[in-house]
Amino acid sequence: MKYMWEGRFKDKVAYEVIEFTKSIDIDKKLAFYDIKGSIAHTKMLSKVGLITKIDEERIINGLKKIEEEIRKNKFKILPTDEDIHTAIERRLIKLVGKSGEKLHTGRSRNDQIVLDEKLYLKEEIINLLNYIIDFQKTLLEKSEEYFGVIIPSYTHLKQSQPVLLSHYFLAYIEKFERDKERFLISYDKNNVLPLGVGACAGTNLPLDREYVAKLLNFSKISNNSLDTVSDRDFLIEILFNCVLSLIHLSNFCEDLIIWNTDEFSFINLPDKYCTGSSLMPHKKNPDVLELIRSKAAIAIGNLTGILTLIKGLPLSYNRDLQEDKKPLFETIEILKSSLKILTKIVKETKFNVEKIKNSISSFTLATDIAEYLVKKGIPFRNSHKIVGKIVNYCIENKKEIISLTLEEFKNFSPIFNKEIFNVLNFENSVDSKKVIGGTSSTNVKMEIEKWKKNLKKSSIHILSLKKANSTLKK
Ligand code: ARG
Repeated sequence: MKYMWEGRFKDKVAYEVIEFTKSIDIDKKLAFYDIKGSIAHTKMLSKVGLITKIDEERIINGLKKIEEEIRKNKFKILPTDEDIHTAIERRLIKLVGKSGEKLHTGRSRNDQIVLDEKLYLKEEIINLLNYIIDFQKTLLEKSEEYFGVIIPSYTHLKQSQPVLLSHYFLAYIEKFERDKERFLISYDKNNVLPLGVGACAGTNLPLDREYVAKLLNFSKISNNSLDTVSDRDFLIEILFNCVLSLIHLSNFCEDLIIWNTDEFSFINLPDKYCTGSSLMPHKKNPDVLELIRSKAAIAIGNLTGILTLIKGLPLSYNRDLQEDKKPLFETIEILKSSLKILTKIVKETKFNVEKIKNSISSFTLATDIAEYLVKKGIPFRNSHKIVGKIVNYCIENKKEIISLTLEEFKNFSPIFNKEIFNVLNFENSVDSKKVIGGTSSTNVKMEIEKWKKNLKKSSIHILSLKKANSTLKK
């Protein structure tokens, strides 16, 4: 007999069917999680008396041997291996004989695969969180390095108001903090043990699911067998989180790409993270940044794919669910590799402070002038109109708003006095944004200090999650 389910078949299953339905090339990535889950399952089977202590010992030793074989690249996948679960079980039976045949007691691949995915995700969420923290720390370093540098902020990609470059970096720290929160929430949602519900109905055997949950560090146990084998909510949520992080990375890359254009030249990307042209000798291109942008698109496709895959399914397990792994693994890998390389690029990117300084239009102070008039008692709608006319006057007469005389200002409103010249200054503009969330140096300095503490705490938190997750409990 080649296939464990072959008993009820009169004819040999077609070779094409096996080729078409197998998933081992992809789910072999879950091998170590599968073994971890099987060891916990074995301990439980022995605890409730479904297998003997001797069986337990043999099975666990066999599983550990397989783990070692995989680690040393000595584990042979056979053409008849359908998926990683059957491949490991096949090898186990070969290694330990009859005892190995007892491993799958009270278990189905339907609950087993959900367990493997959840164990994988627990570990990968922790990895992702660490990569995000590294990226945030790098942004924080940059905001300290360039503290005091003023850049034009953009809306509609048109210059808007002066802000601190540090404020820009902090904006992305905020976005990734929300991403971290989302991953942590998903970590809890994922932390529910699926194993023990069998194929879809539960089992007649006296399994101790609480014990398995304790061994594998799950904080809860699933409540409904039909839901358990069909549920992929946890996975979709995590995939969504990845996609959103990638969208944030893509947005950030887009800014860097724009700042790296010959026209902007706000930044100098490190040579070692750029590529050249096969034809044009002068080119140094930001291909990595472009690829992060495009990989975000692939991730969106993957999320859409899984959502579509789930949408038409009746309860409970359907083989369609097997196709969830490729987009899942790919998306996690995309996010990890993008975070890793972008962190390095940001670390080594230099800002052309002089160029940035010369590129800010004095019109970015127009809103400050309008607010100056508001402080003098002019209703905002009116002050907006007055400043709009001043801007127009400057454009028509080819003048900088910053170099108008008091008389010229007074032509638009008698309320102007010489205090206006304090307003016409980029540093003062920035430092006047004292409202909570504004770009004043005092605010930004405070935020930098706050994030230094927060990110330290974040790292410690993730380390504790990692520790709790790393060992199989006794
Ligand atoms: N490889 C399958 C998956 O990834 C698990 C096997 C379930 N197979 C079955 N015929 N019920 O979902």
